[in-house]
Amino acid sequence: MANDFHNTISKAVQPEDTVERLSKYRRSQGLSKEEYASTVTAFYNLITEFCEQGWGQSIHFALMEPGVSLEESIANHEYFLGEAIGLRPGMKVLDVGCGVGGPQRSLARKFGASIVGLNINEYQLGKCSVYNSKAGLDHLCSILHGDFLNIPAEDGSFDAAYHIEAICHAPDKAAVYAEIFRVLRPGAVFVGYDVCMTPLYDDGNPKHRELKEINEYVSALPQIASFTEVTDSLQAVGFELVEARDRALDADPKTPWYQPLESGSLNLRSLSRTALGRKIAAVALRILEGVRAVPKGSSEAREIINIVADSLVAAGRLGIVTPMYYHKARKPG
Ligand SMILES: C[S@@+](CC[C@H](N)C(=O)[O-])C[C@H]1O[C@@H](n2cnc3c(N)ncnc32)[C@H](O)[C@@H]1O
Repeated sequence: MANDFHNTISKAVQPEDTVERLSKYRRSQGLSKEEYASTVTAFYNLITEFCEQGWGQSIHFALMEPGVSLEESIANHEYFLGEAIGLRPGMKVLDVGCGVGGPQRSLARKFGASIVGLNINEYQLGKCSVYNSKAGLDHLCSILHGDFLNIPAEDGSFDAAYHIEAICHAPDKAAVYAEIFRVLRPGAVFVGYDVCMTPLYDDGNPKHRELKEINEYVSALPQIASFTEVTDSLQAVGFELVEARDRALDADPKTPWYQPLESGSLNLRSLSRTALGRKIAAVALRILEGVRAVPKGSSEAREIINIVADSLVAAGRLGIVTPMYYHKARKPG
């Protein structure tokens, strides 16, 4: 397994690209759209294998309940979107930023709809295609390589669309929404879960700002949006907003969304809360500067996962970030 992993990463990562791309995480607001695309691609080339090993084929958080496993919670979180769309056999649906296709397969199996997985990352799409075939779902699940800022599909060609924690990577949310609006037929629904700063986030609080920046930096995100940036942008491109709310608030306080990261499933280090920001930033810089070594071994990729997890847990505990700002919008018609 270690050798397989080593080979996979070696093939997926171009070290000369990666070190350059990843070093641009910090203060990345100045990146062009093209640079964002290659940065996020390098990021997922690095971490996909570890996400799958530690989490599964669905690379997203879930609304957790006491006594319900992570796997079941992930599936329920996905089914919620399927139900919000009203998914049924015969529908053709776009999964925007599909990862390796966990949600796509789960929704196709449950609802019998045809789902096209769009992804900019060819390494993930290759895996997605293999998993679709292995699951016997080629008749319902297909892949589409492309950037959600320029979706390679005809106007009005989908009956619905959804995304799970993908559009947070967009340098321009409204531009992605406009593309989704274009490829949907009139009357179609678009739903999703976005990573957002919550109303508890205070830009004047240095600790909040530091955690926000670290999360952006280590997860290849441009500015993490507020709730209103999501809802305003959806409406600005022509969608009717049906519903929007933070589903994290529906969770039992004993099982917050970041709880699986706290329980040691990814071998996390425990960081002191007081020195948290500096520690994470210092380790992140060291790792990212040394990322050229990744094709020689896997420890750096694992470290990046740990840093991502630690910074999310810290922000989650303060309630200043959510990975499940649920939004449902409809294209008029
Ligand atoms: C956190 S992962 C979520 C994957 C998937 N939705 C899931 O839940 O398993 C974010 C995904 O967005 C994709 N992505 C990021 N930027 C993209 C872009 N510009 N165009 C298309 N996909 C993109 C990434 O490659 C990755 O697959």
